[in-house]
Amino acid sequence: MLNGKKIVVGVSGGIAAYKACDIVSRLKKLNAEIDVIMTKSATEFVQPQTFQALTQNPVAVEMFESPKYWDIEHISLAQKADILLIAPATANIIGKVANGIADDMLSTTIMASTAKVIFAPAMNTKMYENRIVQENIEKLAALGYYFITPASGRLACGDVGIGKLADVDTIVDFVLDKALPKQDLKGVNLLITAGPTVETIDPVRYITNRSTGKMGYAIAEAAEARGANVTLVSGPTALTAPKGVKLVPTTSAVSMLEAVMDNFEHQDVIIKSAAVADYRPAIAAESKIKKTDGDLQLTLVRNPDILMALGKMKGSRILVGFAAETDNVIEYAKGKISKKQLDFIVANNVKAEGAGFGTDTNIVYIIDNKDNITKVDLSSKLEIAHRILDKVKMELDNKREDKQPPIH
Ligand code: PMT
Repeated sequence: MLNGKKIVVGVSGGIAAYKACDIVSRLKKLNAEIDVIMTKSATEFVQPQTFQALTQNPVAVEMFESPKYWDIEHISLAQKADILLIAPATANIIGKVANGIADDMLSTTIMASTAKVIFAPAMNTKMYENRIVQENIEKLAALGYYFITPASGRLACGDVGIGKLADVDTIVDFVLDKALPKQDLKGVNLLITAGPTVETIDPVRYITNRSTGKMGYAIAEAAEARGANVTLVSGPTALTAPKGVKLVPTTSAVSMLEAVMDNFEHQDVIIKSAAVADYRPAIAAESKIKKTDGDLQLTLVRNPDILMALGKMKGSRILVGFAAETDNVIEYAKGKISKKQLDFIVANNVKAEGAGFGTDTNIVYIIDNKDNITKVDLSSKLEIAHRILDKVKMELDNKREDKQPPIH
């Protein structure tokens, strides 16, 4: 139930506007307090009176109509909302928000709000796939706006493809998920590694990689919010550890291995998103290596594989690896599941736009040891973190069920 949660539903002008009536009615039955804002073009598809009757609240359309509340209306709605749901969201409203345009009641309210904003896009396939629309979605997703991927099928314009408003159940479930943060990992001990490792060549130079730690820190933040006791073993990053998380700073692969082993015993779940260097210089010189006229050859030796070591000693713990690939993403990632005895792996193509190192978004495949594959489309790293934790929760529940004695 959404008892008392304040949801502002923004309806923009598309044929799917009529489905917003069903969404509003479903949210109302869940006891949410709802206000509706319509764009002018949405009123061509559905009368404001319909939403007024469903919500028992006045419907806002124009910026400068006589106020229905004492406060400035768009500010008042923006501030009172726990969630702003834009359904259907046209290319126009997405484009306006992505580019800072606030020229009507809906765009102004979205801009003035610090609430969670969820877009449920609906439009023609070619429009949805248009690079400009996709870039706007990428930009907003990276800023923490949520997107519900549209469904595929026959569209009102006769085309067949992606662009149909996601079904009402999916949208209502998404709102529930965002409005009521779950505490489904309460009491679970979870260790996450994040960031790069740094392998010393001499006091001046080192070998490292492009990891910023954003992916791992997002998992730590999401797990903490869901009630887990989180230990974050991190290579050097510019990030601040999320509140409530135990941070264990490390530098090299060897120091990360030690930190993981020191904190291993009491963990229920271990997720390895760190980008660990496979090699380190055979010797870390104590003084600066002086430049000569000739070339310099460095001998690199293998670093320990932390994940492989964990696989051998995991017992009943859930062990999750990451795979950073540039080719044959699924095939190579699957190879790592069996080799490192993982429950599942999160594979990302680090060459794909919006994915991998340094970005605020990612695109991943979650592949488990029973060959189930789930793709998570372009989303913020925080959103991806939640999908990974949903899978962790499922694996924990399965393990618990396996432990139950059979009922005769
Ligand atoms: O930090 P960001 O900028 O947000 O970027 C995120 C990310 C791209 C680093 C992340 O999404 C990611 O893919 N992390 C894994 C990087 C990696 O090292 O992948 P890999 O395919 O080389 O290694 C496979 C797994 O083995 C990983 O879980 C890794 O942590 C682990 N490993 C690898 C080598 C080693 N010596 N020890 C390990 O434990």
